[in-house]
Amino acid sequence: MNDDIERVLYSQADIATACERLGKQLTNDYQDKVPLILSVLSGAVFFTTDVTRQMDVYAQMDFVDVSSYNGGTHSSGEVRLVTDIAEDVSGRDVLIIEDIVDTGRTLKFIIDLLKRRHAKSVKVCTLLDKPTGRVLEVEADYVGFVVPSEFVVGYGLDYKGEYRNLPYVGVLKPEIYMNK
Ligand code: XMP
Ligand code: MG
Repeated sequence: MNDDIERVLYSQADIATACERLGKQLTNDYQDKVPLILSVLSGAVFFTTDVTRQMDVYAQMDFVDVSSYNGGTHSSGEVRLVTDIAEDVSGRDVLIIEDIVDTGRTLKFIIDLLKRRHAKSVKVCTLLDKPTGRVLEVEADYVGFVVPSEFVVGYGLDYKGEYRNLPYVGVLKPEIYMNK
């Protein structure tokens, strides 16, 4: 699997440092709240477990599964709710944890859903931000890294369901897109 990677963008150590930095910020900002941490399946699971363990605050956790990619490298443009949030979000301070904000469609869909359900506040923490991919106007409040305009995999991010378990974030070799 490692042989399919052209170059590593963010190493395990880079990611750990980013989680520590974000964890400190989140600890500070959520000190007086009990946030509902909403992890976006499946990509954000790795980042969620690492960044939330750097947060010294009382918090609850939930998950939501939203799909727009169908496993390829381009957003289909249509966002679908695959698995709904279990908790009642009304009156809650919700912190969305994402792996990457690209077109912004996924994030906008989730933020709109939370607002319709009367969340008290909605903030977004994403490992990666790809501003060049943006189609909808939506911004993350906490960002690990701003990524170049390339399709990235690893540390939760997949290509056709694979590569999520790479411990770093990297760029796939072009021949993988052509053959796989
Ligand atoms: P949007 O376009 O809705 O994307 O902002 C959000 C979701 O799409 C997936 N995504 C990617 N997955 N490499 C990936 O492995 C990428 O470069 C990439 N860009 C978007 C991801 O699941 C994210 O939550
Ligand atoms: Mg995702």
